[in-house]
Amino acid sequence: MTGPFFRPRRLRDNPLLREAIAETIVRPDNLMLPMFVADVAEDHEIKAMPGVMQRGVDSLAAEVERLVERGLRSYILFGVPDQKDPKASGAVDPDGVVPRAIKAIRKRVGDAAFIATDVCVCSYTDHGHCGVIHNENEQLDNDESIELLAQMALTHARAGANMVAPSDMMDGRVRHIRETLDDDGRVHTPIMSYAVKYASALYGPFRHAADSAPKFGDRRGYQMDFRNRKDAVREALLDAEEGADVIMVKPGIAYLDIIRDLREVCDLPLAAYQVSGEYSMIRYAAAADAIDEAGVVCELWTSLRRAGATIILTYHAADAVDHGWLA
Ligand code: PBG
Ligand code: ZN
Repeated sequence: MTGPFFRPRRLRDNPLLREAIAETIVRPDNLMLPMFVADVAEDHEIKAMPGVMQRGVDSLAAEVERLVERGLRSYILFGVPDQKDPKASGAVDPDGVVPRAIKAIRKRVGDAAFIATDVCVCSYTDHGHCGVIHNENEQLDNDESIELLAQMALTHARAGANMVAPSDMMDGRVRHIRETLDDDGRVHTPIMSYAVKYASALYGPFRHAADSAPKFGDRRGYQMDFRNRKDAVREALLDAEEGADVIMVKPGIAYLDIIRDLREVCDLPLAAYQVSGEYSMIRYAAAADAIDEAGVVCELWTSLRRAGATIILTYHAADAVDHGWLA
């Protein structure tokens, strides 16, 4: 007898056996859909993100109800206020667009939707940075910013948010948010920390979606340098120590090494954020018939989970339940 003795292909031959031994599975329950809620009478599609909408409060709640019925349970809300000022006062307004959206969703679906909220002030400040700045071109005031962020998180939790997700990258904000929630008796509201958030060109389309582009400078003074890997472990462990319940890595697909690093040093659930630029690259390539959208998206989601992510934040989550991608 000649030929190979070891034949790994034997395990790939039969489709039923392939299903039986598949290691990594993506379920709709692993997906969280980012949604943009604005003070607008009419919804409109976001520039550079075909198929993603900025919605008014009622329309957003109606869309969540529709998707919950189709089996999508988790959402993360981004507020796009019409009023901006240097102190981001809209971010702590109990009648702001996010608290109203949470209440409108609850009215329609009760506890059938899990509602997380993004906690960051860049769409609420007139300068578009993620914290408090006293003078143009000056550094962010870290310690004043975390007080504002904690109040914003509390505002969301009081309105009924199931989880708060700080995305600002200020130092010490997780502990400060935890203490603020606990002091208000909200000991069971989890914090999903954008612990490992790199300064990425892949956030481009999001800035139209949330109207949150910085008016001067950039975010490299607070978001992480993508040339660095060790910094990620340090940031994740710090946030875990400060009381984070879920640790996020962002962006997603170019950062699989980082997800794997964290999986090895941290036992908390990890979230991966497949960001706006990732969405748009796939969407436009699919529109040009260059790739099969469902195939590519499901492969990339599987890769994120294979690397060690539990939750995937993705603008394609609605497509998955609408078109049965994961069935
Ligand atoms: C703001 C925020 C950003 C994203 C989530 N929260 C943009 C940024 O930091 O510039 C990016 C999301 C995406 O690109 O989909 N703090
Ligand atoms: Zn921000």
